[in-house]
Amino acid sequence: MEPTIKIFENDQEIADYLVHYLSRVISPDNFFHLCLSGGNTPKSIFSLISNVKKPVIPWKNVVFYWGDERCVSPDHPDSNYLMAKNSLIDKLDIREECIFRIMGESNPEIEKERYGKIIQLNTNGVFDLVFLGLGTDGHTASIFPNQMRILESKKACAIAIHPDTGQIRITITGNIINKSNQVIFLVTGSEKSGIIYDIVNKTGDWIKYPASHVHPEKGNVIWLLDKKAGSML
Ligand code: 6PG
Repeated sequence: MEPTIKIFENDQEIADYLVHYLSRVISPDNFFHLCLSGGNTPKSIFSLISNVKKPVIPWKNVVFYWGDERCVSPDHPDSNYLMAKNSLIDKLDIREECIFRIMGESNPEIEKERYGKIIQLNTNGVFDLVFLGLGTDGHTASIFPNQMRILESKKACAIAIHPDTGQIRITITGNIINKSNQVIFLVTGSEKSGIIYDIVNKTGDWIKYPASHVHPEKGNVIWLLDKKAGSML
């Protein structure tokens, strides 16, 4: 199924679209298992989402997870949990029992198993929505081009190593990403325009990029881009 690509002027327009989307898909009667992306891109988008009051989103039904985490403490500036806590979660009335962070401070071998069990127990391995970012090398979550085996892993979570910094990370696998009900890429900035072009058009080294292998079994991928990231499409 072809991806849905939407290009917006700026983060505010992306946030406005997402608020309307979330208000439609999150039911006031059921839990909604939402897996957050990390890095810098979501920071402003998450913050803008938390400021929008209409349409109303039943946030009390949302259960928060992370697609990946750096193996650092939850108060470390690199923490994806801290980023989402500061930009989104602390601004909403979210109960602690609805927040399942990856414990970056724990032993990675133990944590990947613990978090995988949580995903299986809470969602049966199927997130309602997974937000993903895109690295300039085509990685997504913390699945890097030199660790493509994580795409095919039958496990829910894996240990990854950032190829440049050597930073150890815990990530959900391609197996979990592609079992989700919906995947939305949030990508902004001109430095991502070339790799988006290659992924969408299947040109250049597209097949070597983990993000090219995001094909949810149930639906299509939605790309929400700002005009800089989408400038080559
Ligand atoms: C992470 C992310 C990673 C990120 C991309 C884009 O932990 O870094 O999960 O996949 O989404 O690297 O990062 P930026 O948004 O900072 O460009």
